[in-house]
Amino acid sequence: MCGIVGVTGNQNATDILLDGLQQLEYRGYDSAGIYVNDQHGDGFLVKEKGRIADLRALVGPEVKGSTGIGHTRWATHGVPSVTNAHPHVSADGRFFLVHNGVIGNFSELREKYLADVELKSDTDTEIIVQLVGKFAAEGLDTFAAFRKVLSLVDESSSYAFLLMDKEDPSKLFVAKNKSPLLIGVGDGFNVVCSDALAMLNQTHDFIELTDGEVVIVEPQSIKILDQDDNEIKREPFHVDTDPEAVQKGAYAHYMLKEIDEQPGVMRKLVQEYFNEDGTVKIDQALLDDLSQADRLYIVAAGTSYHAGLVGKELFEKLANIPTEVHVASEFAYNPPLLSEKPFFIFLTQSGETADSRQVLTQVNKWGYPSLTITNVPNSTLSREATHTLLLHAGPEIAVASTKAYTAQIALEAILVKAYGEAKNIERAKEFDVAKELTKVANGMQELVDEKGKIEQIAKDLLATTRNAFYIGRGVDYALAQEAALKLKEVSYIQTEGFASGELKHGTIALIEDGTPVVAIITDPKMAAHTRSNAQEVIARGANVLFIASRDLAVAGDQIILPDIDPLLSPLVSVVPTQLLAYYASMQRGYDVDKPRNLAKSVTVE
Ligand code: F6R
Repeated sequence: MCGIVGVTGNQNATDILLDGLQQLEYRGYDSAGIYVNDQHGDGFLVKEKGRIADLRALVGPEVKGSTGIGHTRWATHGVPSVTNAHPHVSADGRFFLVHNGVIGNFSELREKYLADVELKSDTDTEIIVQLVGKFAAEGLDTFAAFRKVLSLVDESSSYAFLLMDKEDPSKLFVAKNKSPLLIGVGDGFNVVCSDALAMLNQTHDFIELTDGEVVIVEPQSIKILDQDDNEIKREPFHVDTDPEAVQKGAYAHYMLKEIDEQPGVMRKLVQEYFNEDGTVKIDQALLDDLSQADRLYIVAAGTSYHAGLVGKELFEKLANIPTEVHVASEFAYNPPLLSEKPFFIFLTQSGETADSRQVLTQVNKWGYPSLTITNVPNSTLSREATHTLLLHAGPEIAVASTKAYTAQIALEAILVKAYGEAKNIERAKEFDVAKELTKVANGMQELVDEKGKIEQIAKDLLATTRNAFYIGRGVDYALAQEAALKLKEVSYIQTEGFASGELKHGTIALIEDGTPVVAIITDPKMAAHTRSNAQEVIARGANVLFIASRDLAVAGDQIILPDIDPLLSPLVSVVPTQLLAYYASMQRGYDVDKPRNLAKSVTVE
């Protein structure tokens, strides 16, 4: 979704902003812009619809300075266009603002305060910068005007703001509520960004901000103020990520690189979460909180929700704990009746998803314990939950999530092992998760080595189809939902994942000659049933691709999966479905890493 960058005190501001925006491209956007000030009275505003490369092409050699702000916009209010792109400017040309988030009461603010101002854009953001301009013109200094505007923004709003005043151009005025924002500490200069990845070439030391704080960033100082203007001292945290890890290397696309990285991620998780004697390394305080719970509530969105569906099977079967899985945006406004001692698990690759965060805020108000499982240390959901477990998957750049999904399931399995053992549950004690994950890593490697075969299947089955179906039962149904999401988001083929037994209760009406149906078969208990459902669609003309575990495969099955514990089978069965999605997107000529309308980190509700 939208991205923010800013810098003060560095003569290369233009390059730093453009490079930072380029690093944020993966998050999804439709226009971009920068404002750079040379501290000698000249400022340059450049905005463009489309890609950062298009913006770069417009930035001439005159666009130089030491302070600036930049933005990638993912349209919420107003179509993608140059006018609606950020930075927005106050009517008098003095203030420049970039914003991530949504201002809930922008229409009321416009009517109440800006009836006499001619607005240039359709955005909620412009209202904010016009208000700063108005209050400054009425005599307030910039900080006071900014504060006053923040006080007028309603509770429902989310924002990360970065404001510049042309008359005081070395300062960046910063504020955040619900949307992520970090200050990066440079050597003789400072930066601001909505995602540390944007500034890893400048610094690895970042200061996190809390909702409601306002910050004044200057080349040599960072002044953080709480809501009552008390100054807060906060030490930076160090981000270890190697900037190389966010490069594509020899790969044509991040998605393919990230699919290929999965065996390594499995091994890394074993390394991070197991002691040399084979025992699991999970914080005792987390196990103590879990041991008090009478029910688990897994809350997540999209792919992470699908990883939660597999987690439910693991928690119920190996730790004997009733587990519910909820779509965050549904839970937020329609929570279920809770048990007496609930424990919440937030699955979120980015750690910033607004829907999940909204639920966590509520859970914290209720006073229940929680765990965030995330790929991003110090992300908002990590900071705000009682406990955090890290996925150690390395940065995931492709919008379509692959390695984070498998890392989430693997980490759920590791947690279940420790939890089930602590509860003295025989099945958990017998479950050798480290050995299984090593088998998974080897099995994934076999599958990613079969790319040529899967590319051909994608060509035959998915190059021109209008729709497609994934079917399965149990964890294969959970996997079918993830496989369908992956295919639809990168190939735009209308795809659904179904419980195979449900087909004849309605959906089978959609099957016609040549409709692609992918049957997933990894559970011995249900293999025969799914096969007979597949026969029902074959009888109606469907073109069925069978993906089956080696011990359940029959002659004619096209993709054979290595044998692993059926509870962990999605870790291997997902790989061919990710590759099918990737190659289907290639066949159809789409930008697989940046599918239309999608954003990597969904920071608005
Ligand atoms: C799909 C995908 C999304 C995310 C969802 C939640 O490939 O990536 O469905 O899974 O937006 O994001 P996180 O996990 O960051 O909370």
